[in-house]
Amino acid sequence: MIPESRTFPEDFLWGASTSSHQVEGDNTANDWWAWEHQRPELIRGGRLSGAAAEWWSHRAEHDLDLAVDLGHNAHRLSLEWSRLEPEPGVVSSRALDRYRQILDHASRRGLKVFVNINHFTLPGWFAERGGWLSPEAIPRFRAYARMCALELGDLVSAFLTINEPSVLAYKGYLQGMWPPGARNLRLAGRCLARQLDGHGAAYVEIKRNRPDVPVGIAINVPSFDPSRPGRIRDRLSSGMLDWLINGALLYELRNGRRAPPFGLGLSSARRMLDFVGLNFYGMYEVRHEWGGRPRLVQRPTIATETADWGRPSAERFERVLLRLAQLKIPILVTENGLFDPDDAQRPQYIVDHVAAVHRVLQKGVDVLGYCHWSLIDNFEWAQGWTAPFGLIGLDPRDQSRTIKRSAQVLQSIARSNALPEPGWDPR
Ligand code: BGC
Repeated sequence: MIPESRTFPEDFLWGASTSSHQVEGDNTANDWWAWEHQRPELIRGGRLSGAAAEWWSHRAEHDLDLAVDLGHNAHRLSLEWSRLEPEPGVVSSRALDRYRQILDHASRRGLKVFVNINHFTLPGWFAERGGWLSPEAIPRFRAYARMCALELGDLVSAFLTINEPSVLAYKGYLQGMWPPGARNLRLAGRCLARQLDGHGAAYVEIKRNRPDVPVGIAINVPSFDPSRPGRIRDRLSSGMLDWLINGALLYELRNGRRAPPFGLGLSSARRMLDFVGLNFYGMYEVRHEWGGRPRLVQRPTIATETADWGRPSAERFERVLLRLAQLKIPILVTENGLFDPDDAQRPQYIVDHVAAVHRVLQKGVDVLGYCHWSLIDNFEWAQGWTAPFGLIGLDPRDQSRTIKRSAQVLQSIARSNALPEPGWDPR
């Protein structure tokens, strides 16, 4: 018998997440495909997305079956806008059929499917017209959302509109490492604001056409701390980063008002959220010396030369969950994970992070479920194939799959729907 205190709610969701471009393969009509081919030097290791995990051609069903074998009862995936609408206003019935096949397969296997309609990638034609910054961005995204709701809404448990608007704004418009490769603070702010407007517009369209389907957004909420709490500059810089990346966005979602520096006044994302998806990876310590710029100095940290997911911290994850609870809507953990080539740290990371979820559930926070990032090693954007995040290992050269120890750890937690015994060694 499992003692009551370690169990999760009966209908708790256990699963993993994926995104279209990262697993489908041959997404030749989106901005990322073009970017990878124009700027291969920006893809670490030089291997491009290519066939990815071959989900589009045939392997989605196989991997979703593996997820079911691994005890999952939920999966989060994304739709590829460039496949569904290859030209402005033209819907591909072939792409719709393939998505219907995948979604139908998942639900017949007992998976609740959370469907993100946009996970970073944009159709080439949309990007060429200015992407999120174009005057037609919102009507175009609204029409796309309507089509997704009408054509696929019967097969989804819930929709998510956009994945991590602040990450796209940062990587694509400030850091310049992702398409469109801009480095401009003002444009980054505009891109963020536009995506939130897009979220509001998509929410309305989906609800109008599928009133019973819950709609959310997935946001990345890292935790920032001053490296030396006694130093005013560290505290100010950490507070400023937290405001820019998390605070302003949460303020807008909570109050329906845009906050500086992203604008002022009523936001079109006003009360347009049935639940919120949380993506959490780690915590950052901010240090700001006189005459220098703020730096992230947490050690150890999960990083490459060009990306830093922070220091794993289940305690900060718990804090972020409590912060999100202030939105007073259910939370779904839509991503949580780490890149760990040997799968040495991931088993313990999973145990620690689901324990944090359990603690907030006991405090009365409404968490619907936990989706690990990711189900399978995949194309990790500018990190190419060099940052494996999967529960299932994938060798992109021969498409072979291996079940990692961490997958078994999550499997045993999901199957028992309970935390492991205290002191259990997940390795
Ligand atoms: C994104 C994923 C990505 C993961 C790991 C998240 O920011 O939504 O697409 O693979 O982080 O970097």
